[in-house]
Amino acid sequence: MSDCQLIFCVLLSIQFGAVVDGARGTFSQSDDDKFQMLIAGGIVPEHGVFVRNLVSIRTLNYISFHGDNHFCTGVITSSRTILTAAHCVTDNHKSIMHPRGLMVIFGALKRLERYNEDESRRVHKIVVHPHYRRYEINDVAILQLTTVIPANLRHVKPVIKRKRLAVTEGMKCVTMGWGQVYPHGPYADEVMFLDVIIRPPQHCKKQKYFKKEGNICTEPINEGQVCPGDLGGPLICQSYMAGIIGASMGCQGINSIKFINFSYVEDWVEKTVLALSANRCKISLLFYFPFVTHIIF
Ligand SMILES: *[C@@H]1O[C@H](CO)[C@@H](O)[C@H](O)[C@H]1NC(C)=O
Repeated sequence: MSDCQLIFCVLLSIQFGAVVDGARGTFSQSDDDKFQMLIAGGIVPEHGVFVRNLVSIRTLNYISFHGDNHFCTGVITSSRTILTAAHCVTDNHKSIMHPRGLMVIFGALKRLERYNEDESRRVHKIVVHPHYRRYEINDVAILQLTTVIPANLRHVKPVIKRKRLAVTEGMKCVTMGWGQVYPHGPYADEVMFLDVIIRPPQHCKKQKYFKKEGNICTEPINEGQVCPGDLGGPLICQSYMAGIIGASMGCQGINSIKFINFSYVEDWVEKTVLALSANRCKISLLFYFPFVTHIIF
């Protein structure tokens, strides 16, 4: 079984801390209070908006039940491309999986639910970062879908990107994925969120493969018990794409999580997404750019 299947896990009873305010990109105490009320009222937490940026990456066929073939999370970067961790789609020898063995499901709030055919796509091509070093650096890959995701789906959108987003120590961010709900337990049915705070690189010294260059160090804010990443899932800071969950250590009770620094790989991602989206989907891409400078491509 590959490390791809190690998934980010948080306690079922995860408590949410500060909230990233999507509209304004700021944090405040009053937001926290509001958020608590929202949870008590049973309304989908604000983090829920980020689910529309996610896909569930699966092998073609499930084994016993729908969704048991999920193994990694991906982030929508354009109507035809998905960003994920290189670790998800390569093996120990860095050989790349066959794209035809993969599919992605979008708009999938619940992993175990049946999805419609039109909410899934096969993968045409996989491009791994040319300077990827397993566990260490540039742990990113782009999946090119066989056909575009329609632009008119309200609950499916590309992630928002800000050129050279400054991620600074103490900043509160959120990460997410269909993780295991406790160490070695089952994967979550619904997307789980984990609030984290940006820490200096020294905080991640227990992470065996942490590289100051190219990684971002974080600490979970609440006692969400954290296992290795729900690989390929995003780190969102101030509503923008800031990192990707890359390969990490096992569930060893360390209070740090490292991410691939998105800014570090941004130029490659941008170039690759543009190249893979170029042909026939330019037009649908335009739909994705209502706020030109902020949206990824
Ligand atoms: C992420 O990478 C960018 C570009 O290399 C760098 O300027 C920034 O300081 C890095 N961020 C962190 C938190 O290390």
